[in-house]
Amino acid sequence: MLRNDPAQYDELADQWWEPAGDFAMLHWLAASRTEHIPPAPHPDAVLVDLACGGGLMAPHAAALGYRHVGVDLNLLAVRAAADHGVLAVRASVLAVPLADGCADVVVAGEILEHVEDDVGVLAECARLLKPGGTLVIDAIAATLLARLIAVELFERIPHGAPPGIHDPALFVDRRRLLAAADGLGLDLRLVGIRPSVRDVVAWRRGRRPGVRMKPVFTSAVLFAGYGRKR
Ligand SMILES: C[S@@+](CC[C@H](N)C(=O)[O-])C[C@H]1O[C@@H](n2cnc3c(N)ncnc32)[C@H](O)[C@@H]1O
Repeated sequence: MLRNDPAQYDELADQWWEPAGDFAMLHWLAASRTEHIPPAPHPDAVLVDLACGGGLMAPHAAALGYRHVGVDLNLLAVRAAADHGVLAVRASVLAVPLADGCADVVVAGEILEHVEDDVGVLAECARLLKPGGTLVIDAIAATLLARLIAVELFERIPHGAPPGIHDPALFVDRRRLLAAADGLGLDLRLVGIRPSVRDVVAWRRGRRPGVRMKPVFTSAVLFAGYGRKR
């Protein structure tokens, strides 16, 4: 099986806005990211969503008062995002066609573990952010535990992860990421996160619309990063 194949996002295009579909967890992550983004400081404030996919941050960015600009390579994802009100641009997260310092907030969710050059994406985050701007990321750590859970386990369970979507060779070295962030003028802290087990049970029984993400003692599997441009 070819892992991290971009064509998978064409096959899964009808899943973006299915809250109980293959991308269910991305809905939970979108809500979780929102807790770490301040309300828009002014009416023209911009949130740049790198690898926006189908634009699942759209309702959250709108509720916070941001203009939501999305960037993704996948044409069908860009169309889905545009259908949900995102100003969506088809481009690589490694060469974003937006001006330096244009963003009050940059979100880079579930992308660092899908590219060869995760630090290059972080550099784009730093370039796009205004001084004092907010950065929110999430990604999968380069550990054996992450490989066991995110690939071997989650690809086998319903609502886990679509088979082949992740290539563990691309999982993120957290120490290298933090060192790079510092060099790029970003104050960044990493926090392990996981879905609430209680919420998953309730969600599966139709008793909750979604699942909250909870902090966990280790960032060795799924982690979020909350930062600020100095
Ligand atoms: C796992 S999805 C995450 C989508 C979205 N961030 C979310 O959390 O809902 C990964 C996305 O990254 C996009 N992608 C992968 N490599 C990319 C690149 N080099 N530049 C732009 N987008 C890319 C894919 O098309 C896909 O939409």
